[in-house]
Amino acid sequence: MLKAIPFKVQKKHILTSTRLPIIRAFSQGLKLEKEYEKNQTFYLNGKKVIIDKESADPTKTLLDYLREKGLTGTKYGCGEGGCGACTVMISYYDSQENQIKNRAVNSCLVPLPFVNQMSVTTVEGLGTTKNLHPVQERIAKFHGSQCGFCTPGFVMSLQSTIQSHITEKNGQLPTKKLLENSFDGNLCRCTGYRPILDAAKSFGIDFDIKDSPVPFDKMKKFDPKKHLIEFPEELKQKPKPFVSKSEKHTWYQPTELKDLLNIKAEYPEAKIIVGNSEVGVETRMKNLEYKVSISTSKIPELRQFSELEKGIRIGASLPITDIMDKLEMIIKQKKGEKFKTQGLKEMIKIFDIFASRQIRNTACLGGNIATASPLSEGNPLLIALNAKFGLINTKGKKREVFAKDFFLKKYRQVDIKPNEILVYIDVPFTKKNEIFRAFKQSRRKEEDICIVNGMFRMEVDPNTNKIKDSCFAYGGVAPYTVHAEKTSEEINGMVFNRNAIDKIINKISNEITIRDNSPGGMVDYRRALIKTLFYKFALSVLYEMDPKSVSKGELSTIIEEEKPEMNAKQKFDIMEDMFPITEPQVHKSAELQTTGEAQYTADFAVPNCLHAAFVTSIKPHAKILSINSSQAEQIPGFVSFVSAKDIPKQGFNGIGTVFPDEEEVFATKEVNCVGAILGLVVAETPEIARKAARKISVEYQDLPTTLSIDEAIEKESFYPWCHKINRGNIEDGFLKSDFVDEGEITSGGQDHFYLETHAAIAIPKEEDEIEVISSTQNPAHTQHNISVVLGIPSHKIVSRVKRLGGGFGGKESRACLFATCIAVAAKKLNRPVRFSFERPEDMQISGGRHPFKAKFKVGYTKDGKIQAIDTQLFASMGHSLDLSSAIADRALFHSDSAYFIPNMRVVAKLCKTDLPSNTAFRGFGGPQGIFATETIMDLVARKLKKHPEEIREINLIKDGQKTIFGQDVNDCKAIECWKYITKSKDFLEQKRKEINLFNANNKYKKRGYAIMPLKFGISFTASFLNQAGALVHIYKDGSVLVSHCGIEMGQGVYTKITQVAAKELGVPVEKVFVNETCTSRVPNGSATAASTGADLNGFAVAKACQTLRKRLQPYFDKNPKLKFEEIAHKAYFDQVSLSTTGFYATPDIGYDFEKGKGRAFHYFTYGAAMTEVEIDTLTGGHEIIRTDIITDVGRSLNSAIDIGQVEGAFIQGAGWLTMEEVVIGDKNPNNKWIKDGFIFSIGPGNYKIPSPTDIPRTFNVTLLSNSSCPSNVHSSKAVGEPPFILGNSVFFAIKNAIYAARSENGFNEYFRLDAPSTCAKIKMACADKFTN
Ligand SMILES: Cc1cc2nc3c(=O)[nH]c(=O)nc-3n(C[C@H](O)[C@H](O)[C@H](O)COP(=O)(O)OP(=O)(O)OC[C@H]3O[C@@H](n4cnc5c(N)ncnc54)[C@H](O)[C@@H]3O)c2cc1C
Ligand code: FES
Ligand code: FES
Repeated sequence: MLKAIPFKVQKKHILTSTRLPIIRAFSQGLKLEKEYEKNQTFYLNGKKVIIDKESADPTKTLLDYLREKGLTGTKYGCGEGGCGACTVMISYYDSQENQIKNRAVNSCLVPLPFVNQMSVTTVEGLGTTKNLHPVQERIAKFHGSQCGFCTPGFVMSLQSTIQSHITEKNGQLPTKKLLENSFDGNLCRCTGYRPILDAAKSFGIDFDIKDSPVPFDKMKKFDPKKHLIEFPEELKQKPKPFVSKSEKHTWYQPTELKDLLNIKAEYPEAKIIVGNSEVGVETRMKNLEYKVSISTSKIPELRQFSELEKGIRIGASLPITDIMDKLEMIIKQKKGEKFKTQGLKEMIKIFDIFASRQIRNTACLGGNIATASPLSEGNPLLIALNAKFGLINTKGKKREVFAKDFFLKKYRQVDIKPNEILVYIDVPFTKKNEIFRAFKQSRRKEEDICIVNGMFRMEVDPNTNKIKDSCFAYGGVAPYTVHAEKTSEEINGMVFNRNAIDKIINKISNEITIRDNSPGGMVDYRRALIKTLFYKFALSVLYEMDPKSVSKGELSTIIEEEKPEMNAKQKFDIMEDMFPITEPQVHKSAELQTTGEAQYTADFAVPNCLHAAFVTSIKPHAKILSINSSQAEQIPGFVSFVSAKDIPKQGFNGIGTVFPDEEEVFATKEVNCVGAILGLVVAETPEIARKAARKISVEYQDLPTTLSIDEAIEKESFYPWCHKINRGNIEDGFLKSDFVDEGEITSGGQDHFYLETHAAIAIPKEEDEIEVISSTQNPAHTQHNISVVLGIPSHKIVSRVKRLGGGFGGKESRACLFATCIAVAAKKLNRPVRFSFERPEDMQISGGRHPFKAKFKVGYTKDGKIQAIDTQLFASMGHSLDLSSAIADRALFHSDSAYFIPNMRVVAKLCKTDLPSNTAFRGFGGPQGIFATETIMDLVARKLKKHPEEIREINLIKDGQKTIFGQDVNDCKAIECWKYITKSKDFLEQKRKEINLFNANNKYKKRGYAIMPLKFGISFTASFLNQAGALVHIYKDGSVLVSHCGIEMGQGVYTKITQVAAKELGVPVEKVFVNETCTSRVPNGSATAASTGADLNGFAVAKACQTLRKRLQPYFDKNPKLKFEEIAHKAYFDQVSLSTTGFYATPDIGYDFEKGKGRAFHYFTYGAAMTEVEIDTLTGGHEIIRTDIITDVGRSLNSAIDIGQVEGAFIQGAGWLTMEEVVIGDKNPNNKWIKDGFIFSIGPGNYKIPSPTDIPRTFNVTLLSNSSCPSNVHSSKAVGEPPFILGNSVFFAIKNAIYAARSENGFNEYFRLDAPSTCAKIKMACADKFTN
């Protein structure tokens, strides 16, 4: 029998033989299964659950199980372990360590049988709104929840960090730093993370109440006795073998190696599962099916960790978190022999940025190796460390193989025979004169797979400096992990010094080549990284050999400094006399959100409901020859295929946002994008619907495609619509200019990445009525679409929205299309039908921000005063117009940014492309117009050799001047905000000195700063949309019910409206309740968009409340001492109507492009930001060191909510301009590996939004003091979109840092940097010897 090696780190456990004892396979097959536990037992939120063998479904994920059981606090955000919305805590007894482990995990990747004998805690298990757990309370009261969809995941990550630290470490609360790092697996699209991090840090043992940004004294203290989740005694026992069986699948969880081998012998094709982070993605996203799986998580030999004579042994199934803990212990133990643990330290460094905490808590190294992904970190790490793997076959025969021989030179192939299992990984200690370093470069620092990684080892003879041995292994450069074997052979014996570095780099680059069109793209960048990662290593070797051989300027490349703790300050006016206006009240739903009680569309239970899956085109442009559903119909549970044929006779298969029939609901003759809707499969369960949808076969005939702006320009594929703004005399302006320059710039698309994907439920009712609950920013338009398509009058359609898990424009128009499809199905089948998009289909189908290209000509004086700008804007609208014309208009209106430009001509052309229709996105074209102009400012500064902020400052718009579309700017705050940020000449001089000094002292790290102004127009540019209605009831008991057209999507509009109503009526906010938004209460609402939600609806509600207050005023006058409820009661008895509507339409706005006249915006909002960044010129990585923002929100309705909007918008803007890259098969030479029209970046794996570590280390936000906008509700100003623009400060700070790098390489001129400035673009723009 193989002896189980205790899990604890053993002192010098020496395995003398490389042979493991032979295990005889059980000849009796799986007789032993009899002894297996067949009922699954676990605890869920403290209650015992038994899933008996008859009801077992081992293919179900824990997430699906929880949600089916009504625990809908745990959310689906991506299904691939990339967002953290599904985070729960699992607790289990580790019998090898005799310890209870508490771990945050992604329930979307955890198979249900995995939690057998475990305790699962979901957000519902912590507390309720009636009895909040301190973690829930802090996140709510620190304003860490906006739309709240991500919030349960953050709550559970934080609780897990605290719980595991207290129970497994020293019994004390963790430090602030540790708490701040709890969230590398959680994404939030709303908050900008700052308040969440502040809330987390408030639990730190080193937290000082004085630092709390919110009143702290009344908050619950964390009491371990009360607030740690108890572990059930019953589960403290040795694991028992367990089997979970259904017709489709069998899950074995043996507890002994011999059993494992037996099962494997019986089912050679069985899938081994540990963390399921690879297999779960394969089954969920790639639809692979396995009949048998074997969980090896309970096999002691595979969970071992021991110290060998010359290294360590790691069990193949040991979770990475545990490996990290053990490595740390070994490193501590070996303090006296530091050289030995160099490799182990680097392992920890790499594991720290390996996937996310949730993944590391279950995923193992064995799974990483066996998968052999070309992007794996484990493979090159272990090759370079010269690790050895121990395998055993079903006959008990074992063998060892070196990592370098294990990975075969074929995509995802390794030297494991079908009957073998990987048991352990032996990692040798590094030798005395060996240097080991590991590097990983990815799109985002954390929770990201690499673009390229490099793991390097070199042994140098200290006497001769000759290389004795080396290994240079890379991931991300070939279809398999590679190491430069030939180079290592050739350099053996070479003297290692500075001169040798270039020679070795040349050899490596000749040996490891990346072919053009290689999958993954970024070929030149990856080629550069092959060199630069090695270069970093080479400098480290030089340093280790002789610290003096490395210059001071190179040190920061070698020695990585620990990131400082995030710190942030918020400044705003509090006007107590105005309360509750201006009061920083907590978001009304925050407690519902932190407890998981808040319901979103997918959470509503609807009896007798069917489920729909969309059938969409896989061709960008093609004729539909036939659609055949016969195969799908064979699948049990299939109900119907719904298509254009099912649209009732009185209805119409066409919708549109601007033109009513511009787009088919279901494509009939042609498809014009990948993702075009062909129909729906409706089935009894979502899984069946999806499976059947894949079986719908469609025959196409390809048609020519246009997939990019450049292609559209070339083919003149423009929408026959084109607005322009023509101010002054452009030719005159150029004549008056000292210089005239021309250029081009592009800004990329952006996915909304709201955490809640699109969802809708349609419920048919009597008399043709239909009720629709959907995730839309525009319920009235959903109602209208359904009315048109089904041929039913609007009064029979009720469109309801409780809240959205983020919208950002993405649910303004496209959501109405999806809900309409569902309504057609519900009508056809006369049963409720629902759908929720999976993340990839959401991202492929629903469109995003319009990519723009600008061609410009600028004339300016020698002082930098702009005289004239002539810009042509080209936007990729996709296949349909949707909101593109209004988006282009806003781009035109914002093409002067915050500047006075005396002569400007700007034209916007919409490029018709065979891509999903692009749509509204925060800023609505404004950011794209502004980005082009800010690039022009940069060009002018560079040409004149001035600081960009000097050019920006002298062109700033002032009171009394006009915008390019002729609107006066009154009470202009642009200069005031600018001055606040730029402080003084001395301050700027000092900043420049500091940065120049840093840049002079650091060869491969460069810093840059940028200051950006902001002016943003508020109103819908289609002027008729600037209207809103409200309905306010006062009940006899004095409670107030408010309905309006605004949608609560995290931006706090319900909270602000509550404050407005309370103020107007003179009641405490607790008396006011804002119900869901519903078309049967308030009709004809506009979308909640254009930052106008609180302005328009706030005014409408204020007007209704004023009417009611007027009716009640005589009672107040007569009975000044009576309470509101008493007054309401009296008025009721006097037969006074206590209900009324309110209506508001923004006065005097509207712009006529033909005449070039009119008032486009109700008012402007202003701001400024200064950002300082640091780039790594060798890798292209960047960090935001500091950002200071000021924004003008007038008299803030709620300063806490406004600060949250500013932070969130800023981070989203920075994401757009720096890391969020929509990668499309658009014939771009770099993207040839992607099929035409398909989007590659359709999930968190390949599309990176900023994560908690990407926010500025110092992040200060000020709301401009003493500002007021008397023409708006309570003198407030809108806040949702404007601060997005300030993300420009990050982009241009990066650009300035690149200028610093380029100037050292001899390039001092302006250069073009298209957005987003990804690490690939930054690196290549540095134009050093590594980029050719
Ligand atoms: C969101 C996300 C982020 C990720 N980030 C990274 C990253 O930064 N770097 C990186 O390298 N990887 C990353 N991965 C990939 C993955 O997490 C790792 O490869 C992980 O180590 C796999 O371990 P697992 O236990 O989850 O494997 P599983 O999914 O359980 O198994 C993976 C494969 O290994 C096989 N296997 C497992 N154990 C054995 C064994 N003992 N013998 C034989 N075969 C075995 C399984 O049969 C299966 O084919 C990421 C994955 C996700 C979902
Ligand atoms: S839903 Fe599980 S990580 Fe996104
Ligand atoms: S609050 Fe985090 S995604 Fe909305």
